[in-house]
Amino acid sequence: MSFYPPEPFRIKMVEPIRLIDRPARQIALQDAGYNLFGLHSDDVFIDLLTDSGTGAMSQNQWSAIMEGDESYAGARSFFRLKEAVNEIFGFRFFVPTHQGRAAENILAALLVKPGQYIPSNMHFDTTDANIRARGGSPANLVIEEAFDPTNRHPFKGNMDIQKLRRFITETGVENIPFGMITITNNAGGGQPVSMENIRKVSETYREFGIPFFIDACRFAENAYFIKMREPGYGEKSTLEIAREIFSFADGATMSAKKDAIVNIGGFFTMNDETLYQAACNELILREGFPTYGGLAGRDLDAIAAGLREGVDEDYLAYRLGQTAYLANLLLDNRIPIIEPPGGHAVYVDAGKFLPHIPQSQFPGQALSVELYIEGGIRACEIGSVMFAYPDPDTGDMMFPKLELVRLAIPRRVYTQSHMDYIGGVFAKIAKQKEKVKGYKFIYAPPMLRHFTARFAPI
Ligand SMILES: Cc1ncc(COP(=O)(O)O)c(C=O)c1O
Repeated sequence: MSFYPPEPFRIKMVEPIRLIDRPARQIALQDAGYNLFGLHSDDVFIDLLTDSGTGAMSQNQWSAIMEGDESYAGARSFFRLKEAVNEIFGFRFFVPTHQGRAAENILAALLVKPGQYIPSNMHFDTTDANIRARGGSPANLVIEEAFDPTNRHPFKGNMDIQKLRRFITETGVENIPFGMITITNNAGGGQPVSMENIRKVSETYREFGIPFFIDACRFAENAYFIKMREPGYGEKSTLEIAREIFSFADGATMSAKKDAIVNIGGFFTMNDETLYQAACNELILREGFPTYGGLAGRDLDAIAAGLREGVDEDYLAYRLGQTAYLANLLLDNRIPIIEPPGGHAVYVDAGKFLPHIPQSQFPGQALSVELYIEGGIRACEIGSVMFAYPDPDTGDMMFPKLELVRLAIPRRVYTQSHMDYIGGVFAKIAKQKEKVKGYKFIYAPPMLRHFTARFAPI
């Protein structure tokens, strides 16, 4: 029996949810082309599609919203956010953006030229696509343990330093405008990166004169994992750990929809003044004036409050404890998952759970559909639908190493009984899993196809 941490909050406002009956779920799914992104949220009972922008804001954040200064330029809200960003990230400059991918777009637009390469532990889909959209090639250099779902390495998001060195020497420094690391590693199971690894990655990039940017969406969860797991950090506060992480980098892109617990927002922060000026110009062209960056003043205030709440250790203990609780429920039912569980989500190893479905028939997609049919649960495929692309040289389909289904847990939204319900639905599917069938594309756009593709059962 695993431990469920009591929530360090009580509930003041509720949002009704309902489970529509099975025939209605089947019709909803057909109408959506078997793509869970196409469902109406009213037809979803428990929504684990993403933890991005789906968290519950606190009374503090809602009251900060009332303080929002909607001045076009120089708003008080901007300076309050600047203070919070400085407190945690400590880079010299920052610009707000409407979400994380807008920050990535600016970074890629300014620095990536066709034919160049951007190494990381693993790029998330939007970073991957923003680099490709500028003619660049993302390179994923995570440690091999990341691909072994049952290997309980404490920092499976770490970059393989030998692979990185080899990659830099073989590719040539002149072809690498910057390097990245994603904390935690969303595409690889929400796994944390250790401080030691961040330091070594930074030293390697610096040795070769390559600027280093952190994809920082889940920096607070990563910092808390370091506190819990890395020798020498147990006595440090999460805030101190976060500051140390960023001291190793030249800048960061941030989706505030994750660890700043807001429904919209992000930012791009950096030390280089020339880059900052160029970012302001890009921002003005596409997002808005540099003191609001495509957001309302009230959004900036909500982010400022949320950033501070995101590093609160009572909250983080509950947050990671809830994820671990769901992971243990699945393991109790012999559902293969990525172990140990990450911070924001439990990743089910759909390839292993449904071995009769080949990668070309999308086992992760098949399991996601089944979760909805069986229990009204919406999850997200992170496998071949998202990441299988033809090799640009040979045209052969390159499949990802793992076929996963991500159960992302919105922050401060669901309770223990919701987790128990999810465990029960998995137990039912497990009993008849041989009957689950694969899927094929009916329509697929060239990039980020998981959002709008349509499927048919095989
Ligand atoms: C690791 C990572 N980077 C970047 C992004 C993009 O952020 P946004 O959805 O705010 O554009 C996400 C979103 O899920 C993410 O998980």
